[in-house]
Amino acid sequence: MARLLLINGPNLGLLGQREPEIYGADTLADIESRLAQSAQQQGHDLFCYQSDAEHELVRRVHSARDEGVELILLNPAAFTHTSIALRDALLAVSIPFIEIHLSNVAAREDFRHRSFFSDVALGTVAGFGVASYELALVAASRHLARQSAVVRDR
Ligand code: DQA
Repeated sequence: MARLLLINGPNLGLLGQREPEIYGADTLADIESRLAQSAQQQGHDLFCYQSDAEHELVRRVHSARDEGVELILLNPAAFTHTSIALRDALLAVSIPFIEIHLSNVAAREDFRHRSFFSDVALGTVAGFGVASYELALVAASRHLARQSAVVRDR
């Protein structure tokens, strides 16, 4: 049983109303409760956090270390393309993370092609709508299972 943290960045609290043709009809509460349930089924505890403020996201990442969070699922939203502070926070706590996007950022405006997270993430899942979150959770579970097998075999 691992402790996982889902972090969503700015404007994702408006999912369901926000550009539904791009981001879909599900609310963040829908996504969070479904994901927490899936995590439970895969034997993990998932905690969820959303903020529109960069410093709050940075502080949430800092406290994740003291809480023993083993892996972070992160949709940095617009901070993907701007936030060195959030990138540095993740590197500072050394908690592995998976970058998530609902939309296929590579197929959108040029400014969305740059991510300050992809090169330091375990991997990125983008373009599958809410399924991006589910796929990232599957990847997280497999990563954690591999890690504990490595520790067991030592
Ligand atoms: C997003 C993509 C970002 O470019 C955008 O700023 C978002 C959402 C996504 O999930 O597709 O807010 O991260």
